[in-house]
Amino acid sequence: MEYQYILALETSCDETSAAVISNGKILANIVATQEVHIKYGGVIPELASRNHDLFISSVVEEALKKSQITFQDLNAIAVTQGPGLLGPLMVGITFAKALAWSLAIPMIGINHLQAHIAALYIQQPNPDFPLLCLLVSCGHTQLVLLEDRYTQTILGKTIDDAAGEAFDKTAKLLGLPYPGGPMLDKLAQNGNPLAFPFPMPKVGMYDFSFSGIKTAIKNFVQLNTKANSEFVNINLSDICASVQESINAYLIKKCEKALVDFKPLSIAVVGGVSANSDLRKKMHTLAIKHKVSFLVPELVYCTDNAGMIAIAAHYACLNNDFIELDAVPFTR
Ligand code: KG4
Ligand code: ZN
Repeated sequence: MEYQYILALETSCDETSAAVISNGKILANIVATQEVHIKYGGVIPELASRNHDLFISSVVEEALKKSQITFQDLNAIAVTQGPGLLGPLMVGITFAKALAWSLAIPMIGINHLQAHIAALYIQQPNPDFPLLCLLVSCGHTQLVLLEDRYTQTILGKTIDDAAGEAFDKTAKLLGLPYPGGPMLDKLAQNGNPLAFPFPMPKVGMYDFSFSGIKTAIKNFVQLNTKANSEFVNINLSDICASVQESINAYLIKKCEKALVDFKPLSIAVVGGVSANSDLRKKMHTLAIKHKVSFLVPELVYCTDNAGMIAIAAHYACLNNDFIELDAVPFTR
């Protein structure tokens, strides 16, 4: 089933977002980032829920306006069903249910992680499969093998922290504001990635672990700050570049192992951390080395956004994959 206009909502964490898609083309992708969390150094779920409630009507109105359509033109509503923070998810799902009910149109529940992957199809609707995808966000780190758009196997995942969490927590240790990933990326551009080598975690096969890197960096900072209280300030760019190098080299090592073992035709990186400039470069280099295609979403579709929910919904509709309005949410 192909619908002319689908409105998509994303409220799983701290971005309130609405998008409109028409026949696979994104017409609008409005993202309101909740800045209230910066002063707490992390997302406060209760505040996130309240702010979604505050922003959701205006991002929807803006998305419709930008798409030059009205509520009556909509054919379906898509919404992030999970995983994510419960309260924030509830705001989006309840809004979507009410809207779908009042307009008497179907509702499509979308898995947030599958949507991060579907973001690839916005620019490249027909990638070469099998496709090996590294999914790196604040909440998840997975290596996924896709046989086609609808058939996937999770080869490995993190056994503790996610890659984004490792970026954010080490950035916090260095006194950088939340979310630390983008700032660490920026500072690392002027630093030496080999200045301070950190040990690479040893976890079998395609799984990941980031808690060791985090502890190594914490100990390193504490030890050196004891000797010189200005150590972090003096060496900030080099420390950022070295932290980034240790996280990214580790991600690449796991990707390369899976590449050699499964011989996909394409590789991709998605999720918030795929916005990292060094990781994008390293994945590209890896693709060239192994003579496979490389895909990465445009920056606006890397961190949480409703455009990725919209494209996932577009393909869910083509596959006739809907949920009932009275279905229990959070089940996908
Ligand atoms: O996908 P996302 O928006 O949220 C989740 O679904 O979890 O990912 C957010 C994560 C944060 O940890 C943020 O620091 C990280 O993506 N991130 C980055 C960069 N931009 C965002 N990490 C490293 N370098 C970046 N440029
Ligand atoms: Zn996400």
